Amino acid sequence: MGKYVIAGNWKMNKTPAEAKALIEEIKPLVKDATCDVVVGVPFVDLSVALEATAGTNIGVAAQNCHWAKSGAFTGEISAEMLKEMGVGYVILGHSERRTYFGDTDVTVQQRTRAALDAGLTVILCVGEYLEQREQGVTGEICAMQTKIALGGVSKEELSRIIIAYEPVWAIGTGRTATAEQANEVCALIRNTVADLYDVEAAAALTIQYGGSMNAANAAELLAQSDVDGGLIGGASLKAPDFATIVAAAK
Ligand code: 13P
Repeated sequence: MGKYVIAGNWKMNKTPAEAKALIEEIKPLVKDATCDVVVGVPFVDLSVALEATAGTNIGVAAQNCHWAKSGAFTGEISAEMLKEMGVGYVILGHSERRTYFGDTDVTVQQRTRAALDAGLTVILCVGEYLEQREQGVTGEICAMQTKIALGGVSKEELSRIIIAYEPVWAIGTGRTATAEQANEVCALIRNTVADLYDVEAAAALTIQYGGSMNAANAAELLAQSDVDGGLIGGASLKAPDFATIVAAAK
């Protein structure tokens, strides 16, 4: 299936000095990784993260970007600003942004468009709330979020898209989806992409699982046929745990 990618989403954690220290700790532990390794850091940590990862196998992600190239959007950061700095990836549509900061399927699509136009690779997050899972609409929700976000994305551009399936009820709760649940929805997302493009494009797509993935459960989740990596929150802040997850991705 898709290339394995293990990405840390640090969320609002680590000052620049702490970020540098954590990356220095991670570097030797993941230097022989057979998968792609990414750290998603706060905006103010991007400079030190780029400096600390220069010449290594670790990529750097921002955690959001605006859809406009520039303009009167106080407090926002454009995809072009990230690209010029040397940032390679941007996490978009995370459920925390959808829940607390008003991101919608439409603005996630607009941000995705801007990120691709700027030359970034997008880690696009989709996932259902617990209530939606209980209502039996997980598949519909994830397919809808995927379809809307990919609106206007060409088949060529799909090579710069990674989809992260993150069930909201599993994020930061310690309640991981079972390997079967994770694989089922990742497969459904892949089928949705196959319908939108073709089977070949869908097979090449990296689909990650995220939500309480940790050093203990990563191997089982990553062994699933449709799980091509992980988007890791809490466990990505501990270098040995993150390295264990990276080592499990093969
Ligand atoms: P946790 O790994 O802390 O559950 O967070 C997952 C996540 O939201 C990654 O984007």
